[in-house]
Amino acid sequence: MKGRIVAVATLIGLAGIGGVAQAQLRGHGGPVRGVAVSADGRVAASGSFDETAIRWSLTRNAAEQVLRFHEGAVNAIAILRDGRTVTAGEDGRIAVWTPGRAEPDRVWAEHKAPVVALAISADEATIASASWDRTIRLWSLAGAPARVLEGHTQNVNGVAFAPDGRLVSAGYDATLRIWPREREAAPVVTTLPTPLNAVAVAVDGEIVTAGADGKVYVVAPNGARAAEVEAGATPIIALAVSGDGRLVAAAGIRGAVAIIDRATRTVARTLVGPGLPVWSLAFLPDSHTLITGGTDRMVRRWNAATGEHVGSVVMGAPEDPLAAYAGDRGAEVFRACIACHTLAADQGPRAGPTLAGIFGRRIATAPGYHYSEALKKLDIVWTPETIARLFEVGPMTYTPGTKMPEQKITSAEDRQALVKFLERVTR
Ligand code: HEC
Repeated sequence: MKGRIVAVATLIGLAGIGGVAQAQLRGHGGPVRGVAVSADGRVAASGSFDETAIRWSLTRNAAEQVLRFHEGAVNAIAILRDGRTVTAGEDGRIAVWTPGRAEPDRVWAEHKAPVVALAISADEATIASASWDRTIRLWSLAGAPARVLEGHTQNVNGVAFAPDGRLVSAGYDATLRIWPREREAAPVVTTLPTPLNAVAVAVDGEIVTAGADGKVYVVAPNGARAAEVEAGATPIIALAVSGDGRLVAAAGIRGAVAIIDRATRTVARTLVGPGLPVWSLAFLPDSHTLITGGTDRMVRRWNAATGEHVGSVVMGAPEDPLAAYAGDRGAEVFRACIACHTLAADQGPRAGPTLAGIFGRRIATAPGYHYSEALKKLDIVWTPETIARLFEVGPMTYTPGTKMPEQKITSAEDRQALVKFLERVTR
């Protein structure tokens, strides 16, 4: 089996809350920089410039947990078969998380610069990380010492495992390196015409890599250049190969996502729809549903076989929980919250506590929910005024250290509509 990869890019600002997109996974307070899907296709994970990672249930269309640890953007994310999540950040650290636990089980902090990509070996014994400190590190989940792979002369932007266990890395130095499993052996180095941002390996071992010139380069398992496909006119920042090896998705920095047919080595279609450009891509195990994470802070689903943006119906998502409040502006504003918060106590917590009974409640006191230590130390009682203030200045300012992702509601009218709605429905 192939390793799973996630890649790369540069920085842009936070967006405000607005618009309606119930079909999508909405929760991040900044662009979604990395996405991953579990091997059984039931769970997705995303990392964001908002410094958090989120574990999503794809069957319930809800956020299950917000992972807050990194000091800086969460650039890359991966999911192990046993359900653990691996996050890597701008802070150079890598964290391994067990579902439900508030703190990582394990942290690797040896990289000297941001980590921008992760890959998991087929036997899941090793995690590879690519860093702007120009090294790749191979971390042993069993606790053996890490192995450092040196040789790239620029930022390493992508890593992926080949089916035979070798590691492939792509760097801004325009080289692709294929590292043998034996410690002492030298890597095969293939130089391409352009700085590289991403790499992925298909089930049959064929490698795809891409970067600044907008072309996808196909490289044979022995490192020989096999073909190139013009995917777009602008730099490519993320690549993914479907599990069956038929499709390659390539995301361009200006917004085009090209779906390449690997057999014919041609662009079969491009995605058309909302939420572009995207920073990150992953295929579901069905090999045609593509998950993207983008500048609009959402995790979206697409049908890569048709290029269409997929509605929640196709994924068997629950019915719109806010349908009863059609036309209520406050309910529309609450769409930004629904992935993480329920409104009735019997619906329980999601990634955040239920908001049932929120008014008059002291901060961090909903029974049965594991709040962050930071929140527990604050002295706030929730009222229409304090909740409006929370989203006027943003959780990072109003409740410093909280794990709720940063988000603001810039319009005073929308804040009023939200608290009016909450007053009506959380009693
Ligand atoms: C991605 C998930 C996520 C989203 C989206 C989100 N929240 Fe939260 N929220 C949380 C988490 C997690 C906490 C608990 C924070 C902590 O323990 O530090 C929280 C805490 C809160 C609290 C404090 C609760 C208490 O019991 O003290 C309020 C109020 C709140 N959120 C309201 C909202 C509203 C309103 C929105 C939408 C505008 C929203 N949240 C969007 C995850 C989210």
